[in-house]
Amino acid sequence: MKIEVCSDYEAMSKKACGITSDLIKKNKKAFISFPCGDTPALFMDLFSEEVNDKKTDISEAAFISLDEWVGLGEKDEGSCAHFLNAHLFGKLKYNFANKFILNGANKNIEEELRNHEDFFNKYAPLNLSVLGIGLNGHIGFNESGVDISLNSHIIDLDNVTKKVMVKYFGNNFKPTRGITQGINQIMGAETIIVMASGKHKADVVNLVVNGKASNEVPASLLQNHKNCFLILDKDAASNL
Ligand code: PGA
Repeated sequence: MKIEVCSDYEAMSKKACGITSDLIKKNKKAFISFPCGDTPALFMDLFSEEVNDKKTDISEAAFISLDEWVGLGEKDEGSCAHFLNAHLFGKLKYNFANKFILNGANKNIEEELRNHEDFFNKYAPLNLSVLGIGLNGHIGFNESGVDISLNSHIIDLDNVTKKVMVKYFGNNFKPTRGITQGINQIMGAETIIVMASGKHKADVVNLVVNGKASNEVPASLLQNHKNCFLILDKDAASNL
């Protein structure tokens, strides 16, 4: 992992945006995936500005969702689709050549899963996977102990994720499952950018960097990826 420690959240977001834009400038047909959550919000706002200012052309690129809460759709505040609309698609003046946004509210969630995997396979491998890290070390909804051979799948959320989700939903929703790209799909990406910000992430970041690479802390598996940037702010890096 190439570790970059930035002065603060804004610098971290700018760094990740710079790498993303450079990659798309070099490969206009890039197949990319962004996460949702607090961490990537500014990164995505900055990226949207880059595109709208015509500094980065996404007209030949393709986008796929990383994950979604089962049961929630784009109208539900706190869902990944809602987040992507707020920070990316609702801002963009230009569009990707093609995109697949998971709809966790699809009553036929197995069909949604198949559509996600089919879209993924149409463009695979990812040229870029941008990720956050959960407090339990999850990436996407690949929770502790996940089967690393899986592609798109539905998974039971672990207790840490269920506690953390209160910050997105309050008491409005209580999802118990997530739909997510699998570790196999993520590890196949040519380039991976992982961001972490804030003191509350310092312990897990230390495990991800200095712990044993294992599915118990899924982000630690990125130690074995050949082109992975771990971009941190000072607080997230404070235990390294
Ligand atoms: P956060 O979530 O960015 O809201 O901390 C990270 C994650 O769970 O991937």
